[in-house]
Amino acid sequence: MSNAQTSRVLITDLAAMKVAGKKWAMLTCYEQMTAQIFDEAGIPVLLVGDSAGNNFLGHENTIPVTIDELIPLAKAVVNSSKNAMVVVDFPFGSYESSPEQALVTGVRFFKEARVGAVKLEGGAKVVPQIKKLVAAGIPVMGHLGLTPQSVHVLGGFKVQGRGESGEQILKDAKALEMAGVFAIVLEAIPAALAAEITKSISVPIIGIGAGNDCDAQVLVWTDLVGITEKLPKFAKAYRNLRKEIADAAGEFARDVANGDFPAKDQSFS
Ligand code: KIV
Repeated sequence: MSNAQTSRVLITDLAAMKVAGKKWAMLTCYEQMTAQIFDEAGIPVLLVGDSAGNNFLGHENTIPVTIDELIPLAKAVVNSSKNAMVVVDFPFGSYESSPEQALVTGVRFFKEARVGAVKLEGGAKVVPQIKKLVAAGIPVMGHLGLTPQSVHVLGGFKVQGRGESGEQILKDAKALEMAGVFAIVLEAIPAALAAEITKSISVPIIGIGAGNDCDAQVLVWTDLVGITEKLPKFAKAYRNLRKEIADAAGEFARDVANGDFPAKDQSFS
């Protein structure tokens, strides 16, 4: 899964995995340490998601996130990984106005953070933006279903595409495929709809709350390791690092208060 020049995963590698029926995992990542760890663990795609807003930057949700906030995070992830493709989210307000606005945003992420691809939310309405980016040489990942940047028009963080509205998500997926995306994230939609889209679309489909039939799955890394305070229904915490970290902090504070830290081992003679 590499190329001699960059050694990074390429969009053609992901396309080949779809053809071969090999499933893969994507994780969000916002800084140096987790970028090193996930890259060494062989995760092929790291997403510098705008979920950094509510998992790293202290915002209430993804909407306040800016390009200037994401560029240093994306740079850290690119600089700290060797093999993974690094994808960055276009933040709210950085692409909706026009294809030209999207290109300016894409060029900034490409030149300043040297990411391998970008992701943006939306269906047919963002097709002109996708075409402009792809024509300029910037690979684009789409995002359909529950698109958190539209939470206010969606009426909250709710499952999308139940009943007849599922047809629109399938149509949007086809529009994105025609526009040239290399992959599509499907968030919080019924498993059967995601399975149908995965079968009908030629590019890899990455699920989050979209059942088990997608070509790939993505998790927010703080959910994966159990740091997030309230786990969404569609996520699985593989560890309980919130407790581990809190316990470590508590033990450290107790040792300091008791005079047990630093001991001889941590002191210089
Ligand atoms: O920003 C993010 O974390 C995402 C994933 C949920 C796909 O867009």
